[in-house]
Amino acid sequence: MRQRNVKNKKEIINNSNYIILDANKLKGSWNNVFQNNNPIYLEIGMGKGDFILENAKRYPNINFIGIEKFDSIIALAIKKIPEGINNLKLIRMDAMNIGDVFDKEIDRIYLNFSDPWPKPRHEKRRLTSSNFLNLFESVFKNNKEIMMKTDNRHLFEYSLISFNNNDYKIKEISLDLHSDNCDDNIETEYERKFSLNNNVIYYVKVEKK
Ligand SMILES: C[S@@+](CC[C@H](N)C(=O)[O-])C[C@H]1O[C@@H](n2cnc3c(N)ncnc32)[C@H](O)[C@@H]1O
Repeated sequence: MRQRNVKNKKEIINNSNYIILDANKLKGSWNNVFQNNNPIYLEIGMGKGDFILENAKRYPNINFIGIEKFDSIIALAIKKIPEGINNLKLIRMDAMNIGDVFDKEIDRIYLNFSDPWPKPRHEKRRLTSSNFLNLFESVFKNNKEIMMKTDNRHLFEYSLISFNNNDYKIKEISLDLHSDNCDDNIETEYERKFSLNNNVIYYVKVEKK
């Protein structure tokens, strides 16, 4: 994602009620943060936050956590979120460290338009590599559920193989999400941009018991 530098990003992050600053101190107690036992869904690489914000509004009985690597991007997301959404928290972190922050607490992971890292030597950085799927093992609660959308055919094919190699089963799949029945689809910023360019959107939901 091309980054616009947000001047007062640190201030925005440090003063937001949505941001959790010392997230690793909460490992194992995220339900206390939300003060309920509702399921927790995590979006990795939430970008400017449209998807997770709309989900939080639409599904008040689910807790949503968005993680994002870059200060400027998460600061832009914070600026969009109105006060008073109780089922949403954000963390500025690299997904690489996810095992330090959650312990068998996550019910679903969303990967929306993740960076494709096309070069073979960067394979381990892809969020659907065995490297990351292994990391996710320790954060998932019971069922392991991942929902992925991308416009990148190579990343999609790679991910299907990786899911299969890591014992995930396909539950739903679309090779053209916007032409299929997708009434309850919530668009991300990238999705909106790509579909305006007539790019096909690929979607898959996988599960591991
Ligand atoms: C291509 S953008 C997609 C943003 C958003 N999900 C969307 O669909 O509009 C990928 C986002 O993932 C973030 N990201 C990439 N790798 C990450 C990682 N390892 N941990 C956390 N965020 C990451 C990037 O900073 C960027 O904001």
